[in-house]
Amino acid sequence: KLFWHNIVSGKNPSSIEVIRSPIKNSSLFLGFGLVHMFGNRLTISGDINSRLLGRAQGFYSQTGQDEMALLMAQNFAFLEGKYNGSTITVLGRNPILNAIRELPIVGVSGIFRFARGYVQLRTHNFDLNTLDATVEYKVYVLHYD
Ligand SMILES: *[C@@H]1O[C@H](CO)[C@@H](O)[C@H](O)[C@H]1NC(C)=O
Ligand SMILES: *[C@@H]1O[C@H](CO)[C@@H](O)[C@H](O)[C@H]1NC(C)=O
Repeated sequence: KLFWHNIVSGKNPSSIEVIRSPIKNSSLFLGFGLVHMFGNRLTISGDINSRLLGRAQGFYSQTGQDEMALLMAQNFAFLEGKYNGSTITVLGRNPILNAIRELPIVGVSGIFRFARGYVQLRTHNFDLNTLDATVEYKVYVLHYD
């Protein structure tokens, strides 16, 4: 279990808008076509300053035209113990307003070679003022080590 911190506010955001949506739809708080690039902390608890287990590097894009549904593509680069230097790649659809979302693990490296798996996401905290979000990631991966 990991916590993923998407920080969009303040002087040191870890997630930045690189493509702005040309479409205004006030009923969706992320406009269709928007792209965010991120290098988010993966920590052991919901506290962003808790132990750093790795980094989530990738992007998300709002791909729903009339619903909140992101395309997410990201690599988890692990930094801890026997996982240090190994990666998993998560690519999938993330309807962020659903209580639980499931995304496939599409690739792996290092200690996870030949592994298969999926991740389950649950929003841990979403700050309506800053739009910063913390998401709990439960990572299920079957590997041979
Ligand atoms: C905006 O989103 C709503 C649903 O959330 C949808 O009914 C409407 O068609 C959308 N408008 C545009 C211009 O895409
Ligand atoms: C992880 O690996 C890097 C590069 O090999 C090394 O510099 C670092 O100290 C390692 N970190 C841990 C926690 O083992």
